[in-house]
Amino acid sequence: MTIQDPMICPKCHEVHDYHYDCDPDERRFQMTNEIGLALDEYEATRPARLDYAVQPFIDVRRLTAGENCKFFGPIVITGDRKKLRIGDNVRIDAFVKIEIGDGVTIGDNTHIASFAHINIGGGTLTLGRNNGIASGVRIVTGGNKVDEVAMTVTAPLHEQGLTYKDSVVIEDNVSILVNSVVLPGSHICAGSRLAAGGVLTGKAIPPNEIWGGVPAKFIRKRGA
Ligand SMILES: CC(C)(COP(=O)(O)OP(=O)(O)OC[C@H]1O[C@@H](n2cnc3c(N)ncnc32)[C@H](O)[C@@H]1OP(=O)(O)O)[C@@H](O)C(=O)NCCC(=O)NCCS
Repeated sequence: MTIQDPMICPKCHEVHDYHYDCDPDERRFQMTNEIGLALDEYEATRPARLDYAVQPFIDVRRLTAGENCKFFGPIVITGDRKKLRIGDNVRIDAFVKIEIGDGVTIGDNTHIASFAHINIGGGTLTLGRNNGIASGVRIVTGGNKVDEVAMTVTAPLHEQGLTYKDSVVIEDNVSILVNSVVLPGSHICAGSRLAAGGVLTGKAIPPNEIWGGVPAKFIRKRGA
């Protein structure tokens, strides 16, 4: 199978990312188990456009991961699998979505619970060891600039204007609790917690502290 250049639609010859909007056969194909094969062909030809060209369910048996990892149910992973590093004893629950983007590292013994959406915007995310990423957490590492005309990938490129990326680093023994949002540029130091529903706005949480709220602020020292 040949995958067309995602920027030039083979049907309408317009420039747009999701060319399969004009091609029902392509849309059906991406839902089959053969997507891994298509992805390999695509990686060989157009690696730079991989993120937004296809949105596959990846067969987790094709992932490279450490020892004793567990993947439960359907997990959506988009991007270049060579930039996804998964350590030992990692657990990823059903309905997690990971955008690999410029690179995602998941350290040993880390658990990502259902409905978490990891690395939105396709920058770089580093998750250390023993991290708990609770249900519904969103970690964002890039996106459209808020002052541009449109902020969606489906808008014409000239109206989307500038995009940006800023990496997120989560050190060891961190827990990001249910429904929290971590925005680009954030850094959570070892042993800290982001309380349920918190929004961390690109700040650095020092070690062993509990932060929460919108925007997230210091609540107390852990163990205090
Ligand atoms: C972080 C958390 C554990 C805090 O527990 P705690 O230290 O026992 O907190 P407390 O209930 O004693 O409250 C301490 C203060 O933090 C505030 N606070 C507690 N949870 C908060 C939250 N999610 N956001 C903002 N503030 C919060 C309280 O209002 C209280 O403030 P006050 O002193 O001004 O009244 C808890 O709020 C939380 O987020 N739980 C979610 C657990 C979870 O997601 N589990 C998923 C499975 S791992």
